[in-house]
Amino acid sequence: MGPYLNIVNPVLWEIGHVAWFHEYWTLRHAAGRAPLIERCDRLWDSSAVAHATRWHLDLPDRAGTFGYMADVLAQQEDRLAHGVDDQARYFYDLAIRHEDMHVEALTYVRQTLSYAPPQGLGAGQRLRAGALPGDVAVPGGRWRLGSSAEEGFVFDNEKWAHDAVLAPFRITRGAVTNEAFAAFIDAGGYRTREFWSDAGWTWREQRGAERPVYWQGKRDGVWTTRRYRVDEELAPHAPVVFVSWFEADAWCRWAKRRLPTEAEWEAAAIGRSTADGNRLADGRRRWPWGEEPPTPDRANLDFAFDGPVDVAALPESDSAFGCRQMIGNVWEWTASDFLPFAGFVADPYKDYSQPWFGTRKVLRGGCWASSARIARPAYRNFFTPDRNDVLAGFRTCAL
Ligand SMILES: [Fe+2]
Repeated sequence: MGPYLNIVNPVLWEIGHVAWFHEYWTLRHAAGRAPLIERCDRLWDSSAVAHATRWHLDLPDRAGTFGYMADVLAQQEDRLAHGVDDQARYFYDLAIRHEDMHVEALTYVRQTLSYAPPQGLGAGQRLRAGALPGDVAVPGGRWRLGSSAEEGFVFDNEKWAHDAVLAPFRITRGAVTNEAFAAFIDAGGYRTREFWSDAGWTWREQRGAERPVYWQGKRDGVWTTRRYRVDEELAPHAPVVFVSWFEADAWCRWAKRRLPTEAEWEAAAIGRSTADGNRLADGRRRWPWGEEPPTPDRANLDFAFDGPVDVAALPESDSAFGCRQMIGNVWEWTASDFLPFAGFVADPYKDYSQPWFGTRKVLRGGCWASSARIARPAYRNFFTPDRNDVLAGFRTCAL
């Protein structure tokens, strides 16, 4: 079960919840079947079962939970053998992506709780390729922010693509590294009020934060960090990860930089300039590098590597503007509040986006534990700005 914490679910509950979500949407909602376990909504409906209650339920044991999951899958396979229409297909697409999100959550729960690393994943060693300093220039112009109907499965909060007007901006080629973040600590950044927003300073004081949460201090002059259950040296040129939005924002104020808005992030990732270079061209790439799907040399997704690779690695990932690793490796905090696009209408899973508007910041790009299904360039992830347990770093823009 694991300990009670606001930021994690009991692991046993979370696995059952994933199976329940599959069953609820693909078998009960889309196909009218009766539930396999009568009391299942009282156990696993995340909209109805309060967080603290999840530690105090009459859950099936480990074998029973995996048995339930296998039974749901068998019923789905039975159903799919008879074909599936577009309406039902939507709910399979939704349930698979929901499972992807919980797989990623279980990855950072392992980190939070000092459990063992995931086994049998992350076959590739984390690449050490060095730093990637410098900015690229992105021209201003009209940017179509969000997703359109031709893009296949999209979440309600991406609907629909609409024009945003961007001023020209400069954005880093790579994410902020551990070495660059350490310079902020060494400069007294965690003790200097002026670098922090009011809410950020309150957060810092309440936590007594002096450095990123898993950093363990220096050993022979080298920063170390806890990775799952062991301490190791921090790779200087890997992106900083497990930092809150508040810490990212404070780093920016110290460095005289700023976070990109989500529209800027998206334009830098999949936009390109007109032939004269003076403004953003119409249209977009499917992925930063082009139209081809992600592979391990283009994006550290789906546990291609067992953690973040250096920011200079994966040159094949470069966007038209030369931004590297926009997809995968670490999520990137943006300056943007998580808000509905104009005309927002909730999709059938009503609690996916709507309850969270206005209280969270948008992150983009996915991380090494994200699936390629999730980490599309237009996908809007969202967390409260205090969260330093998620797999997030950031890149910055010039003021
Ligand atoms: Fe869920």
